[in-house]
Amino acid sequence: MIASECEPWAKTGGLGDVVDALSRALGRAGAAGTVAIDGPLDVFLPRYRTVEVPAGHAAATVRVPDPTSADGARDVDVIGLDGDGYRLRLVDLPAAFDRDGYYGTTSGDHADNAWRFGMLCRTALETLRVEARPVDVVHVHDWQGAAAVLYRDAWYWGDFTLGRTAFVLTIHNPAYHGWTHRPDVWTLGLPGGYGDAYGLDLLRTAIEHADMVNTVSPTFAREVTTPQMGMGLDWALAGRGDRFVGILNGIDQVMWNPATDAAIAARYAPAAMDGKSACRAALARELGFDPASGGPIAGAVGRLDPQKGFDIIADAAGRIVASGARLVVLGSGDPMIAARLREVAATAPDRMAVRETFDRDLARRIYAGSDLFLMPSRFEPSGQSQMIAMRYGTPPVVRATGGLADSVVDADAAPHAGTGWTFVDATATALVGAVDRAIAAFTDPDRSRWDEVVARGMSRDWSWEAGPVGGYVEMYTRALAARR
Ligand code: GLC
Repeated sequence: MIASECEPWAKTGGLGDVVDALSRALGRAGAAGTVAIDGPLDVFLPRYRTVEVPAGHAAATVRVPDPTSADGARDVDVIGLDGDGYRLRLVDLPAAFDRDGYYGTTSGDHADNAWRFGMLCRTALETLRVEARPVDVVHVHDWQGAAAVLYRDAWYWGDFTLGRTAFVLTIHNPAYHGWTHRPDVWTLGLPGGYGDAYGLDLLRTAIEHADMVNTVSPTFAREVTTPQMGMGLDWALAGRGDRFVGILNGIDQVMWNPATDAAIAARYAPAAMDGKSACRAALARELGFDPASGGPIAGAVGRLDPQKGFDIIADAAGRIVASGARLVVLGSGDPMIAARLREVAATAPDRMAVRETFDRDLARRIYAGSDLFLMPSRFEPSGQSQMIAMRYGTPPVVRATGGLADSVVDADAAPHAGTGWTFVDATATALVGAVDRAIAAFTDPDRSRWDEVVARGMSRDWSWEAGPVGGYVEMYTRALAARR
């Protein structure tokens, strides 16, 4: 794997969780012999400033071509650490990674991002080359791994180790392409001919040249090939035909388990739900909510960002609390959205709370203590919060798009299969409509329907082993066949 994030060392979003959890699940399935993967599985990650490296670690120095270096190459340390189920390989290049912000700061992206992540990719490939270990698949993630595909074509096509390797690209977030302006393209160390007069779209070019490409749900794989939702990649993706697939993400069900979670007020499981009420009462206390209210608590956790629809939540918040629900929002991001949320919360402090931080434990208390979980995303390649919410007995209310459409079943449309509530339009009115249907089920004197929605969601198996691992192994196998 080559990626810019991997839990617990570096994470800003779902990418970090997925790189860690998928690698572990693949490594374990390989070790158990359930899939034909011979270890060790390596994950190449930048050693950012915030990554803590334990004393006594092993490091190897690799000579890596670097066009910005006076003699055309530089020595890069690659630190090996044992990850949980895989081997982490930190690319320790202080000039690129020992600074604030993985991708940029509040004043914008780092100007040399093409070079920085180019060096991540080139160091990974050079490490594999000098180790001369046969490698079947190099799996790269998002634009930060895209340059590896271009280097393969340019420099490793006939290489003994990497020449027969299949290169697979996973798109987690098509909104970021790694656009590189023409004057910076040379820093990537590619032969001439890449890009056009304006520059180089790293993600799109890697889409065109990888052996297989996927995104993280079947519905999003269809959506992203349309001009409305393709973010400039629809042509390139559609052009790959059946070499572009959708594989829904899983979640790590050991890490996300209300029966063992130490961060929540009480533990619970489908057959013993008292703990959930304790979590709910504790959350209401913590947030200063009116304890006498009979309505549900709705939670929302994530980046305050129009992609995630937090502006829609802000527009709907007044009506949601007026309908009898209470609302808690946890997240940081867009200052305008945060201000609007705070404004509504100030009018009803005992019914709405906004916490503008990144707090892993409070996120868990919200998953466990809420009755409903809101995700009105404008686009959502996969999403994992909706799966976590279901596992914690908190039916999600989601916009039916991407991975949300693939994982949440509307309880009114499908009374015997429902696990939450869904709506179609990206508007506050549509969100409020779905929340109102959920409130109706919650406050129905006959609680059996609500309990069934909760129980069905909790019993769904979102583990990587149950589905996605097989999907990735199949994709790797196809990519290898195509390559060879
Ligand atoms: C991105 C997507 C999200 C997905 C995650 C991991 O953050 O926006 O939908 O779950 O990547 O694949």
